[in-house]
This record gives sequence, C-alpha cells and structure tokens, in this order.
Amino acid sequence: EKGGYDYFMLKEIAEQPKAVADTLLGRIGTDGRLTLDELRISASDLRRVDKVVIVACGTAFHAGMIAKYAIEHWTRIPCEVEVASEFRYRDPILDDRTLVIAISQSGETMDTLMALRHAREQGAKVLAICNTNGSTIPRESDAVLYTHAGPEVAVASTKAFLTQLVACYLVALYLGQVRGTKWGDEILAVIKELGDAPTHIEQVLETMEPVRELARSLADAKSVLFLGRHVGFPVAMEGALKLKELAYMHAEGFAAGELKHGPIALIEEGLPVVVVVPSPRGRSILHDKIVSNIQEIRARGARTIVIAEEGDEAVAPYADHLIRIPATSTLLQPLVSTVPLQVFACELATAKGHEVDQPRNLAKSVTVE
Ligand code: F6R
Repeated sequence: EKGGYDYFMLKEIAEQPKAVADTLLGRIGTDGRLTLDELRISASDLRRVDKVVIVACGTAFHAGMIAKYAIEHWTRIPCEVEVASEFRYRDPILDDRTLVIAISQSGETMDTLMALRHAREQGAKVLAICNTNGSTIPRESDAVLYTHAGPEVAVASTKAFLTQLVACYLVALYLGQVRGTKWGDEILAVIKELGDAPTHIEQVLETMEPVRELARSLADAKSVLFLGRHVGFPVAMEGALKLKELAYMHAEGFAAGELKHGPIALIEEGLPVVVVVPSPRGRSILHDKIVSNIQEIRARGARTIVIAEEGDEAVAPYADHLIRIPATSTLLQPLVSTVPLQVFACELATAKGHEVDQPRNLAKSVTVE
C-alpha cells in the first residue's frame, strides 16, 4: 500500500505532481478561463462579497496565509486569515457580504468546524476547501471546492497542502475573473502557468538528493530557523512546522523583515537558517531585501541554506547551501518552494530515527476543540 516507499509521507510527497494536476482537472476551460460552476455561488453573490475571511488550522492555515496575498492582489477584496481556534472567540465582524473560506484536509477538524458554524450564524456564506468527500465541514458549508489529493495517510500534511494552495489560487483567480479587475491579463497568464505546476514540482522532486544529504548532516542541530518574505513567509512557517512535528526540533518561521526586531539575536555560529528567496523578477524589491537579510545573518555566523530560483545568481555568494527551484511568478512560488522543505524535514526526522508517518502526540484528524 506504500507503493514501494518506506513511508506514506515519501509516497505522498512523490504524488504531488499528480495531486496538483488532478485538482486542476476540469476546472480550466478551453478558452483559458476558469469554470468553477461547481461552487454553486452565483456570480452576482460573488460580486457582492466585500470581505473574505479564511479560517483553518496548522498546515491548512499556512495555505490560507498564502491565499490572502493572492486574493488581495487579484481581486482587491480585503482578506483576513486567522487560526480557527482564535477566530470565533474574538467576536469577529461578519455579515452576509462576507465570504468565509474554511480550509481542511480531513473536513473533520473541530476548531475549523466551530469557526464555520459561528460564521454561518452571523449570516456569512461559507466556502469549504476540503480533501474528504462528504465530511462534516463541506456538509455544513454553503459551497465546497474539493481538492483531489487522494487519501493522505501520513500525519504530516504534504500533498494536501499543495492542493489546498491550488484550490486557493483557483478561488482567488475566479473571484478576479468574475468581478473583472485590472489584472485580467495577469489572471489569464497565471491560470496558464498553473497548468505547468505539476511539471515544475516534478523537476524539484528529481533534484532532492543534495537536500536529503544536507538534512542528514543536520540531525544533531539544536534549532533551525526559516525566513521568508511575502508568500515565502508562510512557506517558512510551514517548513518550521514540518520540522517540529517530525523531527521534534525547535524550529521557527519568521518574516525576514522582522529579523532585526528581535529574532536576529538568536543567530549564532553554525545555526542553520533556511531562507526562501522570492523571484528576482516580478517584485524585485523583495528579492533585494532578502539578499541583504542573508548577508546579515551570514555575517553573524549562520549556516545559510538558500532556496532560490534557477538563474538567480545574486544569492549564490552568500549561500552555504543552494537549493534551486524552477522560475515561477511571484504568487505561485509556494507550489515549488515548499517541496524541498517537506523532503528536508522527512529526511532529518528519519535520520534521527523517528517514525515519520506517526509522530508522537499527534493525530491525523483533530476532532476535539
Ligand atoms: C501538519 C498537519 C496539521 C493539519 C491541521 C489541520 O502537517 O497536518 O497541522 O494541517 O491539523 O487539519 P485539517 O486540514 O484536516 O483541518
């Protein structure tokens, strides 16, 4: 059942190109526009939406953080994202023009379910992004967009995360398409680029041996930091979460710009720091800023592990280890930059002798609040 792999997690990491392709299947029309009639929310209802609120937990929350960048950019609708367990206890402001998006692989996470119930009581429309057919969260939502990752068995979420990202991009692009924004041409180009994502992910998977080797060499590290900017920030948080849950190591993901406001004090000789570098094309200011962040931490002794786009030479002089990913547009980079972090955590945990499919203290589906 593990299809020749030692662990479900390895199998599920390898299945990501297919999971992403399956999640796109049938959702892009021959004219290059999205066909999401399955949402069953009318175009006029979508045009009335004046706020999007995303609720989710853990890895799904990181997908939601990335969705916020995409939704606000392509639709200009304000978007908030919050961990489901905090959301309803702070009396959030919701009404019938609010679209709440609940993201959940299992569809049974109690915190997320309680958040969506609260949202519906306030009159908001709830759209579920879910991987499990007929589970409670989609059943209780107004609409659902299923991810087609197939069953995810390993406790640590991998392929479900990438398909959650795809679903979030689809929703963001669809909202943009329906509402007609000035980004119309960009939206069409990104829909097209999404179609290339499975190939890009495959390319990353084929070059993971040096990442595994690096992970094994870090089995005795006490702590690993992860830095990112823009959509690379949630990716950094996801990389840190994977390492905590699988390798039982101290790991933190930070927004690189926050370094100087505190975390830089943690940097000491030999501390491994993983940096997710935004594309040098597109919003190049982000790229320049992160290059100086890498210089700053390296000057203080950090061992820099840099994830950067193919052809980005500016980072090379400051990278102790350089992990290459294919060039993508700024917002889609998480589809490729997350993959080395999954492989890294899985290999490091295995090197420490941990059971990666079944980490201690964790359950696949958390049905208590
Ligand atoms: C991390 C992980 C958890 C889940 C979280 C939400 O690898 O798997 O953080 O992402 O418990 O679960 P779902 O998506 O089922 O609501």
